[in-house]
This record gives sequence, structure tokens and C-alpha cells, in this order.
Amino acid sequence: MAAGSDTTTRDVRLLPAALQKELKRIEADFTLDTAMLKKITERFVEELREGLEKPNQNLAMEATWVLGYPSGKEAGSFLVVDLGGTNLRICWITLKTNAQPTEMEQKRYALPASIKTATSDELWDLISDSVSDFIKEFKLHNGSSEPLPLGFTFSYPLAQDYIDHGKLKTWTKGFDIKGMEGEDIAAQFRSSLEKRKLPVKLVSVINDTTGAMIASAYLDPETIVGGIFGTGCNAAYMENVGSIPKLKTTLPKDTKMAINCEYGAFDNSHQVLPRTKYDIEICRESARPDEQAFEKMSAGLYLGEIFRLVMLDLHEQGLAFKGQNAFDELNQAFRLDTEFLSGMEHNTDKEIQARFEKTLNLKAGRDELVVSRRVAESIALRGARLCVCGIAAIIKKKGITKGHVAADGSVAIKHPGFRKRWTQAMGEVLDWPSNRTEDPIIMTNAEDGSGIGAAVISAMTIKRKNDGLTEGIKFEGSTK
Ligand code: BGC
Repeated sequence: MAAGSDTTTRDVRLLPAALQKELKRIEADFTLDTAMLKKITERFVEELREGLEKPNQNLAMEATWVLGYPSGKEAGSFLVVDLGGTNLRICWITLKTNAQPTEMEQKRYALPASIKTATSDELWDLISDSVSDFIKEFKLHNGSSEPLPLGFTFSYPLAQDYIDHGKLKTWTKGFDIKGMEGEDIAAQFRSSLEKRKLPVKLVSVINDTTGAMIASAYLDPETIVGGIFGTGCNAAYMENVGSIPKLKTTLPKDTKMAINCEYGAFDNSHQVLPRTKYDIEICRESARPDEQAFEKMSAGLYLGEIFRLVMLDLHEQGLAFKGQNAFDELNQAFRLDTEFLSGMEHNTDKEIQARFEKTLNLKAGRDELVVSRRVAESIALRGARLCVCGIAAIIKKKGITKGHVAADGSVAIKHPGFRKRWTQAMGEVLDWPSNRTEDPIIMTNAEDGSGIGAAVISAMTIKRKNDGLTEGIKFEGSTK
């Protein structure tokens, strides 16, 4: 057999009856039909509205102080620090006018697993030491005595009164670093940079979703949303200031403000999402059981973990890996990542067997191969279909009829089936006619958006400051 799609109905019929029955049950539990997708989307629209209306709602709908789209003429060199769920990336980005390609030098710094539960000092030491190393290695300077402008992409929920400020509301994606929740992380970063006397100035703090949207809009005026489908999930879009009742501002009502939806928290009160027993277990075992309900069913950090729980369940029922000791590796939380899951759908039998052997020390026979392919497909399909609901809700709320969704994140970029499944589900939710000549909403690739977006937003912020439009900018620190 060549690839996952070759797992035919015939293969399933050859499974022992009890396993066949259980597989059917699992597949049914993970199925989201069109009616359910529409129901979830409708509830999503309500939660988006509630978040804009009042503070402290389920969806944070954070005002980011990124005002309007870029002109495409932003230029200059910027240092960018991008702290995601898996990597720390530092970039030196040069934006050029006249549509010349953006130049980027970058380096990834490993985030040790222990950093997730470290102290704030340990995190800032790691980041500032990496910045220092990067400046030296790339011999950075901007040809003057001015400090290098720095954009910081911090992909966790921040409440921002200013673009260069951000109070961390809660950690997500399994992070739990002490001494940061409720604190201004920009101030902490600034003081760590100042301690080392690094020649940089923090200009903007952004979310990866806002970065993806603005980096894409820099080149593509049809951009309507920035979406991250990666370790975590979330989106940003432009809202009129007049449609954000909770925002206190003197800005004209038609000013556009990027909103970071923080929609991984959708349905935290469990009103609409049909959770399987595996989803419930993930929440129960999580450090924050009542948070990020939607993210835990759809984002990359959790897809491999859902798969692990299903396979462990089958083993415990005596239906998979019979007679093998699956309890060492398969019993380890977060042992499997999304890559393992996508391999189940796209690798050959031999490759899958080698993966099971290497990662879990288990021998996968014919039954396990058939079942793992089908389970992996169900989990990834449900994830892609769920990822449509948040974006479709933004599109419906705004009455958008066409445009581009700029997507970044490991699931969007690396999972081969994601885009096709997402587009199919988007068509179902928005009732696209079957005889259309092109899809009205298209997912575009915003790879590196979280970095380039921080550079473009820093350029926009400096221009705004120079033009005297200072609402939402604090500009603390050493120089102007
Ligand atoms: C965070 C968001 C982020 C998303 C994608 C979520 O866990 O709360 O701020 O945009 O992950 O990285």
C-alpha cells in the first residue's frame, strides 16, 4: 500500500468485528456535519460581538492599536523577536519601497522544554541573551547612533492599552511561566534589554495573527483576515473603532483597528462544541482545564495528543497492540506531535511502522495501520473543519463577500490535506454555489508573517508617532 488514502472500506471490513465497531464509534464522534459547522459559526458570531461589546467576555477581542492596513510603502530595517509556542526566532528584516522583495536574515533559538515552566527572569535572560548574540553574529547597526527599532511578536493573550505595552492575561499553549500573568511584559522585556545595555528600542508588541494579516496586506490588498493554524489557533481582522463599544478612544469611528480575537477560548462554557471523551480528558489533564476549549480541539499542540488518547483507549480495550507493553511510551502525555499525525495519512505502511517503532516502541500490524490512518484522518479533518468556524464567523459578522485569509502556522503550512479540507468546509458554511468559477474566500500563505508583520507594524508605528498621531503609543525607553 502506498499512502494513507489507500486505506479502503475493504481494509476496514477486514478488521475484527469489535475493532470495526469501535472505529465506527470514534469516526462518528469526530464527525462535524454542515449543520453543526453552521451552528458553531452562529455561536461564534455571538461571542465575537459580546467580546467587542464589553470587557471580560469569553473572547477577549483585544484592540491592538495597529491602526489600518499598511500602505505597502513602509521601509527600513527592523529587529524582530518572535516568541511562539515552539520556537524563539530573531530576525533582521529590511522592508524596501517600490515593491522590492523584503530581505530577512533570521536565526532560530531552541526553547528548552523546561522554559515553559521557568521563571520570568529565566525567560527574559534567554531572550535577551539571544538578541545580544544575534546582534553580534549579524554585526547589526543602522548606520547612526540611534538604537535599532525592535518589534516583538508575543503570541499569547495580551491586553494592550498601547502598542508598545501588553499585560499578559493568561498563558496558553502549555506555557506556565511564573511572574508574568497580569504583568506588563513589554516593561519586563525592556528592563532585561536595558540591563544588558543592548542598542535596541522596543517599538511595538504584536500578536502573530495581527502580524500575519499585516505582512500579507503589505503585498496583497485583498487580505481580510490573518489566521494562525499552528501550535495554537487564533485570528485577527480589521474592525471599525465605532463597532468596538468597549473601547475608550477619541479616534474617529471609521478608524480601522486590528482586533486580536483570541478565539482559542471560544465556547469555554461548553455550550456548542461537541466534545469527545478524549477532548474532555485533554481539558481535565491540562494545567488550565477551563481555558482554550476551542484550541484544545483544533490546534497543532493537541492533535497528536488526541490521537494518542484514542490509540491508548483502543489498547486498553484490548483492540490494538495486543500483547505488547504500550504503557511506557503511549502512556506519556504529549508524546506525539502533529507531524506524527500527518505522517499517518501520508506515509507508506513501512514508514508508519518505523514511526510507531521509533516513537512508541510498538509494532503496528495490519489492523493498527488501518485504524491509525482512519483515526488520524478523522482528527485532522475535524480540526480543519473547526478552523473554518472562527474565520467564517468574522466574515459573516463583517458581511465580507470575498478576500484572502492570510494563514501561517505549522498545521496550515505543513499538513498536506489542511487547505483542501478547510476550503471545502468554508464553502459548506457560506453556501457557495457548486457552479462557482472561483472560491470567493481563499487561504493564502503568510509564512513568516509573524516576523515580517512585526517589522511592518513597527514602521507604521514610527510613522504614526512622527505624524503626531500618538494615541495608543507610549514610546517608553531610551530615545524617541
Ligand atoms: C494564543 C494566541 C495566538 C495563538 C496562535 C494562542 O494560544 O493565545 O495569542 O495567536 O495561540 O499562536
